[in-house]
Amino acid sequence: MAIAAKDKSGGRILSEQNLCYILNSLDEGIHIVDRDGKTIFYNQKVSEIDGLDPEEVLGRNIFEAYPSLTLETSTLMCTLKSGQSIYNKQQTFINSRGKKITTINRTIPLKLASGEIGALEISRDITQLEELVDNLQLLRSNLVKTQPSGLASKSSCLNNNTSYSFKDIIGESPLFKEVIQDALRAAGSDSSVLLVGETGTGKELFAQGIHNASKRRDHLFVAQNCAALPKDLLEGLLFGTAKGGFTGAKDCPGLFEQADRGTILLDEINSMNLALQAKLLRVLQENRIRRVGGQKELAVDVRVIATMNMPPDQAFKENKLREDLFYRLSVVYLELPPLRERTADISILVDYFVQLYNKKFSREIKGIDRELAEVFLLYDWPGNVRELQHVIESGFNLLQQEEALSYAQLPLYIKERLKNKQLTGDGIELTRPDQELPTLEQVLTEIELKLIKTALARSGGNISAAARLLNISRQSLQYKIKKHSR
Ligand SMILES: Nc1ncnc2c1ncn2[C@@H]1O[C@H](COP(=O)(O)OP(=O)(O)OP(=O)(O)O)[C@@H](O)[C@H]1O
Ligand SMILES: [Mg+2]
Repeated sequence: MAIAAKDKSGGRILSEQNLCYILNSLDEGIHIVDRDGKTIFYNQKVSEIDGLDPEEVLGRNIFEAYPSLTLETSTLMCTLKSGQSIYNKQQTFINSRGKKITTINRTIPLKLASGEIGALEISRDITQLEELVDNLQLLRSNLVKTQPSGLASKSSCLNNNTSYSFKDIIGESPLFKEVIQDALRAAGSDSSVLLVGETGTGKELFAQGIHNASKRRDHLFVAQNCAALPKDLLEGLLFGTAKGGFTGAKDCPGLFEQADRGTILLDEINSMNLALQAKLLRVLQENRIRRVGGQKELAVDVRVIATMNMPPDQAFKENKLREDLFYRLSVVYLELPPLRERTADISILVDYFVQLYNKKFSREIKGIDRELAEVFLLYDWPGNVRELQHVIESGFNLLQQEEALSYAQLPLYIKERLKNKQLTGDGIELTRPDQELPTLEQVLTEIELKLIKTALARSGGNISAAARLLNISRQSLQYKIKKHSR
């Protein structure tokens, strides 16, 4: 094999033997051909994928080893001829052992150590993933077929693939109530909805709530995470596949067809490949889909709700979201606030989850003690409501005879986070001459808050210890914490 790894001064870092060992240990198939299309490297994985022994391929021309390939269908030969890379091409073929294999390939031109041009192909075997997708499609099709008509609209027996409605969405802070009102209004229309919020803020809850409060509630709600699958599989899953199509030659309806007259939730839309975003935009504009590999266009009547866990501006900047798709999706735009910005809801959510787990654990816990309530107000909750719920549930698992959850039942990772919390920023900066001066009260409030946070962080959330560090009484610290969390 004529490739080598060299350091900056041109010296070899790895022996050829080491390099071969590494390439043979990879979970990706590596196939390299020289300028005549003769195989000069063929690793272990690609030999497994193709079902061929290396001896059957090494040193042979590609058409000798793979008689069914042509100049047009061999990606390695195409790259050799054009000098252009081919990215993420999905290929489904029957290998020499008769097994159907699906791979995603990247083929790139290569300058070999001899100075000649060659081509390298890296293949990822996604056969199992594709089988999973097929099973998912089958399961979902069966679900559609078994839907009775005239369904009840009570949650938990909604029978439309959902488990939440608006009454399951807890929160009373003004900021949150406003979002609920907007979402309720959105339920009355058929417009697309874009839900933006950090993880665990309730995006799925809102999406299901909107579906169940809409006239589509007797039809299916179908959710698909756009980050979970490579582009081609996601496209097949969403729009379906047609017999003879390159993905596997099966006639299969996609989620858009299955969700006809219902709602489709496209989770993490910012993870969807941009080319697929363009296809989705066309579907939204025309209300018609075309199965992958198919010719016919089919009319669909589906409401689309999409979610994103980053602000749209950031998604544009990072080239993760097409602006035209954003405007099409955000006819109704709902931003779910993080829990740390609606601390007034923490105690309401705590009561709700304590009641829920009292039932599940057959306990009669009264709630959480004062110290824990104060820690809850100061913690950042990066996992938002989901994290709060899990903290309460894990607390129930640790309870013995206690009547309330306390600091002792707080998960270790939160205790550690509280201890290690590094405070950033040193007060209000007054460096810009045009900057308006803050009032003395604003500055003092900010400094006081930082000192309290530092003391609590250093004492691992223990109020008495923090009060001692600040040389004030425990009551005084409690009062100040309440004042700052208002
Ligand atoms: N307002 C709320 N009231 C009651 N429970 C909530 C609320 N918000 C979230 N939850 C709980 O938190 C869990 C996570 O919510 P959800 O799945 O809707 O979050 P998400 O925003 O979709 O998060 P991700 O971005 O991680 O998918 C829910 O299953 C639910 O139990
Ligand atoms: Mg979600």
